[in-house]
Amino acid sequence: MSKERRTQGERILELLRRGGGFVSSRKICEQLGVSRAAVWKQVRRLRERGFEIEGVSAVGYRLLRSPEALALLETDPGIETRRIGTRIVVKVETGSTNDDLWGLATRGAEEGTVVIAEAQRAGKGRRGRRWVSPGGKNLYLSVLLRPPIPPPGASLVTLMAAVALCATLEKAYGLRPRIKWPNDVLLEGKKTAGILAEMHAEEERIHFLVLGIGVNLNMEPGMFPPDLRYPATSVRMVLGRPVERVPFARKLLETLDHGYEDLLQGRGAEIMEAWTDRCAHPGVWLTVETAAGIREGRFLGLDEDGAMLLEVSRGRSEKVRAGDVVRVHLEGERA
Ligand code: BTN
Repeated sequence: MSKERRTQGERILELLRRGGGFVSSRKICEQLGVSRAAVWKQVRRLRERGFEIEGVSAVGYRLLRSPEALALLETDPGIETRRIGTRIVVKVETGSTNDDLWGLATRGAEEGTVVIAEAQRAGKGRRGRRWVSPGGKNLYLSVLLRPPIPPPGASLVTLMAAVALCATLEKAYGLRPRIKWPNDVLLEGKKTAGILAEMHAEEERIHFLVLGIGVNLNMEPGMFPPDLRYPATSVRMVLGRPVERVPFARKLLETLDHGYEDLLQGRGAEIMEAWTDRCAHPGVWLTVETAAGIREGRFLGLDEDGAMLLEVSRGRSEKVRAGDVVRVHLEGERA
């Protein structure tokens, strides 16, 4: 590529790669013919795209790590699946992969189509929250499903996805993830992955389901917003080393494919059992925020539609179909 057509960011990367160690800001400014402030701005943008660049005042900048490009999943998916990942679209940046896939679904995209992004500008979380999605760090993907089941069955799909996430973390890194109802995946009690399923349906049948999954793989402590409702972590923070996204994404897609096959073959009870085995709060007193207000009680388990059964007082239980567990009380503790 000619020098003129490269962006300032690309030219900085080339200087850092060629330099090997630290390259002074003065040298970068001279080579690019720009101010220190302009260099700093470009370095910040590169960091947002997942490049790890160390900056030491009076010394300069050093490239520590380049993000591994997810584009490989589009050109060389490298997965063996029946349905999920038959088509994979990888975007460098997007608003939300769920929105992109919703658009593709309404235009007739095939079941199993996956949209993955390096970064999301408007990542969506459950209950109208945002999902922080910096570039080059984590996994943000959406899977299109067209399950031939009535709408209440959609909960089983999200429970299955939470189990698939756990199984992938277990196999890939030997971790012991737990699930906070309905489908938050926790490591060491902190949220590491979340699922947002959006459905297009009529009374009796689901037209399609967009299953959005976000996994904090390489997030670092300072990257989480201060106003999080539940403590969060990443695989990197738990393992103490960076993790590769492409192998993880492949394993996750394959595990989801198996889980979805189980669901279609009527093995819902096994999915529920796998969920229960990994439940973060069996028999524990919970505070749950629902549209109707706060509910408190002891978690008894799931009903056949994935709703939570809460013992609110001795011998009296209530069903909670949708909501957020905002507090898992300590053993023996009752609000
Ligand atoms: C949650 O709040 O726990 C759900 C988070 C889901 C985030 C994922 S990232 C990929 C997909 N696209 C989105 O906009 N959201 C989901």
